[in-house]
Amino acid sequence: MITYVATANPGFAPYAMEELRRRIRGTKVSGLAPGETFSFTTGDFDPEQLLKDLRRDEPIFLRHMFPIEAEYDVMNNPDETAATLREYAETLNDRVKGKKIAIQVRKEQGSPFPFASAEGRDVIVPVIERLGGEPAARDADWILSVYASKKKLYLGCSLPRDNLSDWPGGAVRFRKDEELISRAAFKLLEAERAFKLPLDRFSNALDLGAAPGGWTSVLLERGLKVTAVDPAEMDPSLELHPRLRHIRSNAADVSFAPGSFDLLVCDMSWDPHHTARIVSELAPVLSAGGSGIITLKLMYRKPFQSINDLMEDYGHEFDIRKVKQLFHNREEVTMWVKRK
Ligand SMILES: C[S@@+](CC[C@H](N)C(=O)[O-])C[C@H]1O[C@@H](n2cnc3c(N)ncnc32)[C@H](O)[C@@H]1O
Repeated sequence: MITYVATANPGFAPYAMEELRRRIRGTKVSGLAPGETFSFTTGDFDPEQLLKDLRRDEPIFLRHMFPIEAEYDVMNNPDETAATLREYAETLNDRVKGKKIAIQVRKEQGSPFPFASAEGRDVIVPVIERLGGEPAARDADWILSVYASKKKLYLGCSLPRDNLSDWPGGAVRFRKDEELISRAAFKLLEAERAFKLPLDRFSNALDLGAAPGGWTSVLLERGLKVTAVDPAEMDPSLELHPRLRHIRSNAADVSFAPGSFDLLVCDMSWDPHHTARIVSELAPVLSAGGSGIITLKLMYRKPFQSINDLMEDYGHEFDIRKVKQLFHNREEVTMWVKRK
């Protein structure tokens, strides 16, 4: 049996725990950082099979996990802590040689662990190099994870795909562009990666609830033509863009010829069931096989029930490909659908 450190968005760990409890017979879950980080065991499952299942059918709220290979009491003494980190890194001998290794160090707020992330990494790097490995921030062969809770220090080494995300704790970071129109743009950029859906594959997008234009600007940058629907104003930097048409209207009141778009995106801040009705009524404007990326607002404090109901609503017109709470989602999840 293997025990994992698992992470979800703040406040959503109870739902990630529930997802795992439903799927893994005999799992034991235990909280670490309240609402966010916890541990779970593989229970009665063969760990390899469990990893395959979790990768194939990813839980919605579980953002990141790594296996615990070593566990120590957390210390606040820098020398002792450094010795412990190095001692663990030494055991990775075979896995490290000739490979790229990402070192990801995280700590719970209030943990006495004496290092910031970069300092912890700097302690481990010389060992990895001496063992013939190449420390790397991205596209690594292995990820060495360190998580310090208030009481314990957990260490593990795993393949990036087995962590569900190759970012530390699944916290996907994008470069902060000075000209960024809204932080909402990060949601679409993250969805593009999470769903492995390069946006430049599409040519003509309908963006519902588009203002002030974060998503629209990403789509324009990728070379798409965009029809943005929102009663609110778009950012002035976009209004004159030659590939943008802004319709200042409620999305319930617009109509287009069938098959006009190959991508529909929707980040409308409205009742999620009304949104589902509007998007479903607009489904014919999407060409057959066209994709939709839609945020589902979780307004009712019962996320599983809300998501199931909404999947049923959308399921009449669309094939639901994936639902995931992305790092940049707050009280919402993001869904990828395809036109039936
Ligand atoms: C979270 S903001 C969208 C942010 C946008 N994705 C971005 O990247 O800048 C939600 C938007 O939905 C719009 N909205 C809400 N209800 C709408 C409706 N019925 N029709 C069209 N837009 C709507 C609001 O005016 C608001 O601008």
